[in-house]
Amino acid sequence: MKRELRHFLQFKDVTRNELDYLFERTRRIKKRFKSYQRYWPLQDRTLVMIFEKASTRTRLSFEAGMHQLGGAAIYLNTRDSQLGRGEPVEDAAQVISRMSDIVMIRTYEQEILERFAGHSRVPVINGLTNQYHPCQVLADIYTFIDHRGSIQGKTVAWIGDSNNVCQTWLQAAKVLDFKVHVSTPPGYEVDAARAGIQDNSHFAQFSDPHEAVAGADLVTTDVWTSMGFEAENDRRHEAFSDWQVDDKLMRGANEQALFMHCLPAHRGEEVAAAVIDGPQSVVWDEAENRLHTQKALMEFLLMGVIDD
Ligand code: CP
Ligand code: NVA
Repeated sequence: MKRELRHFLQFKDVTRNELDYLFERTRRIKKRFKSYQRYWPLQDRTLVMIFEKASTRTRLSFEAGMHQLGGAAIYLNTRDSQLGRGEPVEDAAQVISRMSDIVMIRTYEQEILERFAGHSRVPVINGLTNQYHPCQVLADIYTFIDHRGSIQGKTVAWIGDSNNVCQTWLQAAKVLDFKVHVSTPPGYEVDAARAGIQDNSHFAQFSDPHEAVAGADLVTTDVWTSMGFEAENDRRHEAFSDWQVDDKLMRGANEQALFMHCLPAHRGEEVAAAVIDGPQSVVWDEAENRLHTQKALMEFLLMGVIDD
């Protein structure tokens, strides 16, 4: 049976209905796994994971996730494969997608991922680019729903760099109809075109982080210097020093507000230890849910909607 080829290159590649399905599916898959019920729909299927940047969570969650679904995962990086020696990405896509069933890529520019997907016979998943990290926000929103119910109409405060994770939150806000308040230092504001958002109906920018968290149901942040931007580290540390999520900032959000961080975190920089290790933090659930949301995603991309 020939199925429509679907990729997950940015968050808006899935519709609201599909997300509702994926979150429900995640819940079932997670529950089934935790009660030791074997579920191997992807037996004999192979995931290829291509990493051009470092990773702990993304590699582990995809590799363990594929294993838990009965399939196999193969790790490739640019240091010890032909990918780092100038083989055209289009040629690599042709070959890799003839030997595997699904591909996850962590790379620099989104354009590389899109070129790969354009020449792939199998679904391609964005495992982080300079522009987006859609698997992260998928897990984050699942985690929010798990703790607080629907995210529709809620307010998320993003404090810090308007990076790949922030840009993904902005796309998600439009698809799922919630609001994102972004506060960045001057010079690091959201660029709507780069974020891939057509209008600003679902986000607002604030120069003062305290104004951004007012009324927020979720406060989230990320490193000041993302992978690939290390040369800017000193300049960024100076610019971002007033954009730490600390107790005082959390007190300005709703009383029931959650705290999330995609991790790895730097205590004393973008987040105070009292917050990430405090009662409002759900960062460990958030990290674990990468595993289960991505299983639902891989199942959906390969098998479509399952009714069981
Ligand atoms: N959050 C996340 O993607 O972590 P890794 O860089 O460890 O994969
Ligand atoms: N914004 C961070 C996320 C790491 C998971 C980075 O791109 O390095």
